[in-house]
Amino acid sequence: MKQLEITTKVTISSYQELNEEEKSLVGIAKYSSLSAYAPYSQFKVGAAVLLENDEVVRGNNQENIAYPSGLCAERVAVFHANALFPNLKINTIAIAAFFNGDYVEQISPCGSCRQVLQEVENKQKHPIRILLYGRNEIYIIDSIRDLMPLSFSF
Ligand code: THU
Repeated sequence: MKQLEITTKVTISSYQELNEEEKSLVGIAKYSSLSAYAPYSQFKVGAAVLLENDEVVRGNNQENIAYPSGLCAERVAVFHANALFPNLKINTIAIAAFFNGDYVEQISPCGSCRQVLQEVENKQKHPIRILLYGRNEIYIIDSIRDLMPLSFSF
């Protein structure tokens, strides 16, 4: 028997250490979270997607009384970007969440959102950088592959 060990690299950064483009993207994700439609969980998530032409497309979670009909912020942002600019690559996605009157520590995309990001990354053959905003630290992940090892494809 053999073992395969899979490691994930996460860079931990302060807000000040981000470059201006990253600071701006994080700011848009934070701002976008405030207009989420989250009457059931009160957990408001914002996502901002930076495209290869420097355009930013944002999204936030949209809940529904029939719970599974809602959608996470990440997929709203990515589908929004793909609908508007189907041929442009996504370079970076920033994610932030607001709950109980303040921004929370880093949240990481759910499995379904990872699957969608993985598909985009595969299609565009270019890694998607992920910025997970937290009140104290920002986690930077270089590719969705790091969050989705051994992902399904054929
Ligand atoms: N949510 C997101 O929008 N993104 C995540 O990464 C995790 C969870 C949403 C789904 C639901 O509307 C609320 O947060 C609580 O789970």
